[in-house]
Amino acid sequence: NWNMENFIADQVELVRRQVGKKKVLLALSGGVDSSVVAALLLRAIGEQLTCVHVNHGLLRKGEPEQVVQVFRHELGANLVYVDASDRFLDKLAGVADPEDKRKIIGAEFIRVFEEEARKLDGIEFLAQGTIYPDIVESGTKTAKMVKSHHNVGGLPEDLQFSLVEPLKQLFKDEVRACGVALGLPDSMVYRQPFPGPGLGVRCLGAITRDRLELVRASDAILREEFSRAGLDKTVWQYFTVVPDFKSVGVRDNARCFEYPVILRAVNTVDAMTAEVPELEWKVLRRITRRIMEEVPGINRVCFDLSPKPNATIEWE
Ligand code: XMP
Repeated sequence: NWNMENFIADQVELVRRQVGKKKVLLALSGGVDSSVVAALLLRAIGEQLTCVHVNHGLLRKGEPEQVVQVFRHELGANLVYVDASDRFLDKLAGVADPEDKRKIIGAEFIRVFEEEARKLDGIEFLAQGTIYPDIVESGTKTAKMVKSHHNVGGLPEDLQFSLVEPLKQLFKDEVRACGVALGLPDSMVYRQPFPGPGLGVRCLGAITRDRLELVRASDAILREEFSRAGLDKTVWQYFTVVPDFKSVGVRDNARCFEYPVILRAVNTVDAMTAEVPELEWKVLRRITRRIMEEVPGINRVCFDLSPKPNATIEWE
């Protein structure tokens, strides 16, 4: 009979049989799938696993720190943490087209990962967080970018590995249950979807470091207030967006010319269509007040009421 404990025991056995004494590499983004693979492989092969976490500078507040804390300090993984923020932001300077941003981020990701892979000796396997829906349909963009970044297809000929994909029979809810059974924190296992290009597609137009900080700071406040209100359990995806234009406001009795921030919250089943949930006014007002007070450089907060279609979930 199928249950999660049996599944984990079986996969641990299968992975051990597949890799023997060899070494395995995993690109650990901190997303649900790669985190669960990491936890499973740690149980199966421990020291033989090396995880590489590439911080492309477009992650949410606290994300890289959580990956290091959970995997290196709590689970004792071999974790290579690469802060490549400057590299990515330099490459992205002046690039305003969203698809160009995606391509640059994807290509640079592979380059950084490849460089790290070359520094490690004797790796023969590459682990991936492929799950069942990734194999049967290629409908939604969710997580696809992350996966194609990490795909062997993107790596050069002399860096070809055999794949280890222990989650490829599972649906998303089973992946989460597996993560819980392996002891990963809820904040990691139940986190909302986050696009591969990250905050890069929420800092509209050409990315600048100052506006990127506005996106990150406002997003952190939004997430904090959503969890406080219990909305993190009911709303599918929620984030903030900062456009590349300013508007007039007043600060300390003087005219100020600053950026607006747009709040986005959606519910969906498959990300193909989405609707905006009705939120309590007092929650929205609290988020607005906090962003105004705590994020210097923002003088206006807007709420995006658009369903998909005609809008998409992301702004870029
Ligand atoms: P849209 O904006 O197309 O988004 O309605 C649907 C879902 O896909 C996510 N998304 C991405 N995920 N790489 C990803 O991994 C991407 O480039 C990307 N673009 C959008 C988006 O966050 C939403 O969950």
